[in-house]
Amino acid sequence: MPAYAVIGAQWGDEGKGKIIDFLAEDASVVVRYSGGNNAGHTVINQFGTFKFHLAPSGICWPHTMNVIGNGVVVDPDVLLDEIGMAQRAGLPGKLGVSDRAHLIMPYHVTLDELEERRRGKSAIGTTGRGVGPAYVDKVGRMGLRAGELLDPEDLSLRMPQIVDFKNELITKVYGGSPIDIEEIFEKTSRWAEALAPYIVRSEDIIAGALEGGENVIMEGAQGALLDIDHGTYPYVTSSNPTVGGTLTGTGAGPRSFGGVTGVFKAYCTRVGSGPFPTELEDETGELIRNKAGEFGATTGRPRRCGWFDAVAGRYSVRVNGFDSMIITRLDILDGFDSIKVCTAYELDHKEIDRFPVDSVLLDRCRPIYEEVPGWQGSSAGLTQASQLPPGAMAFVRRLEELLGIPASIISTGPKREEAIVLRSLMQ
Ligand code: IMO
Ligand code: MG
Repeated sequence: MPAYAVIGAQWGDEGKGKIIDFLAEDASVVVRYSGGNNAGHTVINQFGTFKFHLAPSGICWPHTMNVIGNGVVVDPDVLLDEIGMAQRAGLPGKLGVSDRAHLIMPYHVTLDELEERRRGKSAIGTTGRGVGPAYVDKVGRMGLRAGELLDPEDLSLRMPQIVDFKNELITKVYGGSPIDIEEIFEKTSRWAEALAPYIVRSEDIIAGALEGGENVIMEGAQGALLDIDHGTYPYVTSSNPTVGGTLTGTGAGPRSFGGVTGVFKAYCTRVGSGPFPTELEDETGELIRNKAGEFGATTGRPRRCGWFDAVAGRYSVRVNGFDSMIITRLDILDGFDSIKVCTAYELDHKEIDRFPVDSVLLDRCRPIYEEVPGWQGSSAGLTQASQLPPGAMAFVRRLEELLGIPASIISTGPKREEAIVLRSLMQ
């Protein structure tokens, strides 16, 4: 049986964690393939309420192996915290981290903050977790990988040169305080001991599961519009949340895929800077934010809220090849008199229906809305399509038409079981 990718289709925070926890009942391996602890995946089930930053969201099922793939950047302190939290809560899934996942080191966190400060007005609004600088070092061939923790001799040769270089950057370019190499060595030896049992060859685990006829879920982090290649550059994250990341970030082959699904919120949010054509800077935006609790799971920042953007959505379908969509947080739109959906943009007095990926152009776009009627009654917590208010179903059908793909699941609340399955996603 195949691999299934579940990918954030907007600007992140689409509710991927809840969906993965729901779907993992039928999978034996769940893999995170990109990003780091900039992600915040909220999962609510019989074990409690969790905000996972690194652990794949399948970890609440006893039959699952949860793999942090090579495409992820890992802050070992955050991972150890999460392992401790999972143990205390009695989460039954197993956890492993790829030997080739790059590590977020203390100087990456320092540099993230210093670089943002230097950017001034054009700051990206990063999560400040060192994710961008860790990817810079990966590509710059100056990174450390989880597997290297197990080779202290090699570490003691490489670290001094790297830390020297980082300290020059931190002190001479940014005027910051240098990192103490002794502290780094103390950390790496502690990490090596604590993480050794978790370091795995993830490509073998994934291939083994697929060859054994089991389902594998590729868990997206962030969203397509934050992708380093396909997102609203430079207001993006430093990895590939889009479908390509599921291959490079795990070592799985394309022929093993049985489906690629996009997770769309029934409206849009964005946290951090960058263009957002349907943003509502009025009481409607405030209403959505408060009703939905749209505050970052990682940083607590208020999220920018706006109407569903079908222009951006169609682009996301194109660059990911989604074969279906999952719609989350539909219940938040319960009780609105009317709901808007952006179907085109106005750019320099012309109507366009293609998404300008260039941030400067996108920033000049004004949304052109279609208004759809709201619905009476509540969709919150429903599990059957037949129970949905007809207006809510009509809204879903309209999104299917606008995006050109069918909806497979509608999420009607934050808890695991609060979902309507319209068509089965996995075999
Ligand atoms: P999940 O997985 C929403 C945003 C940050 C910032 C930009 C770059 O919960 O959907 P970074 O720290 O990655 O260098 O910041 O990306 N960002 C997210 N926004 N959800 C996320 O993750 C995000 N991860 C990063 O706010 O705008
Ligand atoms: Mg999140």
